[in-house]
Amino acid sequence: MAEFIPVPPFDLVVFGATGDLSLRKLFPALLHRFLDGQIPPQSRLIGVARSDLDTESFRNMVRESRGKFSPNACVDESRCEDFLRHIEYARVDASAPAEQWSALKDLLANGNGNVRIFYLSTAPSLFVTIAERLRETDLATPTSRIVLEKPIGRDLASSRAINDGVGRVFDEHRTFRIDHYLGKETVQNLLVLRFANMMVEPVWSRAYIDHVQITAAEELGVEGRADYYDKSGALRDMVQNHLLQLLCLVALESPNSMDADAIRTEKLKVLSALRRIGPMDVAAKTVRGQYKAGLVGGQPAPAYADEVGRPSRTETFVAIKAEVDNWRWAGVPFYLRTGKRMSARRSEIVVQFKDTPVPIFGANAGLPNRLVLRLQPDEGVRLWLNMKEPGPGGLRIQAAPLDLTFEDAFGVRYPDAYERLLMDVVRGNLSLFMRRDEVDAAWKWADELLAAWDANGAEPYPYAAGSNGPTQSALLLDRDGRAWWDPD
Ligand code: BG6
Repeated sequence: MAEFIPVPPFDLVVFGATGDLSLRKLFPALLHRFLDGQIPPQSRLIGVARSDLDTESFRNMVRESRGKFSPNACVDESRCEDFLRHIEYARVDASAPAEQWSALKDLLANGNGNVRIFYLSTAPSLFVTIAERLRETDLATPTSRIVLEKPIGRDLASSRAINDGVGRVFDEHRTFRIDHYLGKETVQNLLVLRFANMMVEPVWSRAYIDHVQITAAEELGVEGRADYYDKSGALRDMVQNHLLQLLCLVALESPNSMDADAIRTEKLKVLSALRRIGPMDVAAKTVRGQYKAGLVGGQPAPAYADEVGRPSRTETFVAIKAEVDNWRWAGVPFYLRTGKRMSARRSEIVVQFKDTPVPIFGANAGLPNRLVLRLQPDEGVRLWLNMKEPGPGGLRIQAAPLDLTFEDAFGVRYPDAYERLLMDVVRGNLSLFMRRDEVDAAWKWADELLAAWDANGAEPYPYAAGSNGPTQSALLLDRDGRAWWDPD
């Protein structure tokens, strides 16, 4: 079992408890922390939703979803049942007046000094209302914390309105804006790799790096979230948050410490240095795509428009050539790519180094070095180096990886991102959460790109479900004499 740092007893209130995220991710994550003995016995997990349920039927929902999403979690079933006994349910319509919040008030009446956390896994349009009700009902105590799931709004203006409204009740140090990509093991490892190894940092700049690729490819389509997704699209859903956060961690300068604000200030500098993509260069620097019917993993998958039930111009794929205008990165493109219904689920960061200056091995010089940080599946880091092929006769060179697949190297189960992040909220550690000014800066950049797409008016390019996206995505790199790193 991996070691963990104990956390104080807590009451976690999950709004939107019957929703997909809560059942698929939050409660399974809490179950794993419980099984590892990290959740103190006095802690309470309170699901809140509008549905007419009692605690027993909500526990049943969690029990069923556990069977679906983490079927092998419990070697000993009785431990899973112990976990369920920590769960309560309160029926509350979040938009109803404060007088109708008694079910939750009653449950929290005896706080026992537990750390109090409100997790908002609802539509962002409810964030401000919920924060206000928490103040009106006195449930928001001076030390309680709030967790906001993404998306925080759909543009800079709506995000500011949410942050202003929530900020009137919870100050910045009690506001945890979650981006679950920051909780992934490889992502945290990126900081360790860069700043705990002397040999990495000196080559981490335009002097040695040719370009960076960041890919987040999914096999899944829009599942049950067509309404949300169709209004959002891949740029708002994945790029504005997850991909830009990854870019920040690759590009940031060394923070002075692991203090939350030290890291977040460095990320903000990267976001502020991102070159804007306006109407003049949107066609040359971005590709929007939408999937048509195809085969994913050998199974037929419908077209996006059929999944949402109407013709749509929303992008389910996007590729972008991003540039960071500072001394370290000038001239080093960051190619970002994300898409649904792609050939395989694969999220990774590829840092490609420059060619050797003099090709003394001639045409047979191997490949440029690459550092591949795999977020999922098979989390790990691989450094591709050129080696001499063994054997006599001639000098043949082959690229081979130094392989640090975490599970093999450390032999432990790798926790889901939410496990780490939820425990960080309880500890009050904000390092892996987004500060308000970061969210603003990311929206500012995304808003300009969205406006440029609108002005350009082009339809998304079609791609077959189960492919690597539209062919224009390959051309984006081809024009620069480069290619996506697609190992299969
Ligand atoms: C979410 C997006 O933030 O991340 C989803 O809203 C996406 O559309 C998901 O499927 C991907 O997360 P992961 O951890 O499976 O890569």
